[in-house]
Amino acid sequence: MASRFQAPKGTFDILPAGAHARERVEQLARELFDRAGYARIETPIFEDTELFARGVGESTDIVRKEMFTFEDLGGRSVTLRPEGTAPIARAYLEQGMHKLPQPVKLWYLGPYFRHERPQAGRFRQFNQIGAEVIGAESPLVDAELIMLLDELLRSLEVPALRLRLGSLGSPEARASYREELRAYLREHQDQLAKDVRERIDQNPLRAFDSKDEGTRAVMAEAPTMLEQLDANDAEHFAAVRRLLDRAGIAYELDGTLVRGLDYYTRTVFAFECEQLGAQSEVGGGGRYDRLIEELEGPPTPAAGWAAGVERILLALGEEHQRRPHDVFVAAADGQREQALALVAELRHAGLRAELDLADRGLKGQMRQADRLGVAHAVILDTEGVAQLRDMRSGDQREIDLARVVEELAGR
Ligand code: HAM
Repeated sequence: MASRFQAPKGTFDILPAGAHARERVEQLARELFDRAGYARIETPIFEDTELFARGVGESTDIVRKEMFTFEDLGGRSVTLRPEGTAPIARAYLEQGMHKLPQPVKLWYLGPYFRHERPQAGRFRQFNQIGAEVIGAESPLVDAELIMLLDELLRSLEVPALRLRLGSLGSPEARASYREELRAYLREHQDQLAKDVRERIDQNPLRAFDSKDEGTRAVMAEAPTMLEQLDANDAEHFAAVRRLLDRAGIAYELDGTLVRGLDYYTRTVFAFECEQLGAQSEVGGGGRYDRLIEELEGPPTPAAGWAAGVERILLALGEEHQRRPHDVFVAAADGQREQALALVAELRHAGLRAELDLADRGLKGQMRQADRLGVAHAVILDTEGVAQLRDMRSGDQREIDLARVVEELAGR
């Protein structure tokens, strides 16, 4: 059934076959955050464009070329949120969350939008699960956040995980490091990719992200921020590492880890799944001690992460895994009302029960029960006599209609 209407490039439909795997990811996240005392926050899908320009940073790819920005009917520039941290920092300030006991621990789940070139694992509308802890400077926060993401990915059984860990220090220390890096890049200009060369002045750190071979060779020898941390930042980073060691979380120290957002300070991290190819990062984040100030709030340390739901699903390779249903109630003509009443009772007892909604004959209903992969079928014949069929073994016996729920719920 072709139609000329198609979903926009880089977007996708979440189809019934993939719904269960997705639901499982969301459910595990919900339970994890609940146990850790994080409360759910939801912010609007679009925000004032200026929020991202200020929060995420004018020199980032996201702000320069990936935002879905448009004018609303009142002539205001609004943007579909490309990420969740700046909006949550905005909400923290706007809603007076600094008056709550600190830190405020938040989690979120929802769609984000970036006008990137679509490819495997990279979409223009995608979903993130994320956490933000606002109002505490302790390395315990960094460690707890990393432990939570580790736990989430492990409990989902995401394979072949690697944790990269670095520190970007303070903006002041980074400013002098940036100068040093600029000088180094200029020395090696002729070996660098054009886009890296063009951004030596504006954002030299992004050279670490380049996929260009010549650039990578140059960057392998480049000075890193890790070597230039000031005493406080170095101590903070050492404390985070001690806590992770104690928790038994393996990581690779990586001075080349730069992330595509400008707000990071101190700790940064990324979990990668080697099986994912080019878009291997399933989740990442870090500390952003200056973001709230950048948004005209008081000095407020904070840290967080976000994980890509679609990347997790791709890594699990179980997009189409089905969850078998419990019971199908098949009914001969004249028994459909009875079937609906029975299904309602079974559902009330906590079973996943279905009935035919398409006027199939009994044979067709049994084929449907088979397709659904139910464990049992209850068959009501024209006289209203019930049979219970074990769909795996094929065993079938008569059963008292009044005892069906009790019998099935007890299994
Ligand atoms: P991010 O690294 O830009 O960080 O995105 C987080 C995760 O979202 C990535 O690791 C990736 O799994 C997923 N993701 C990003 N872009 C796409 C895309 N185009 N298609 C599919 N998945 C994608 C942030 O967004 C920060 N707000 C994280 C954070 C929270 N830092 C501190 N707090």
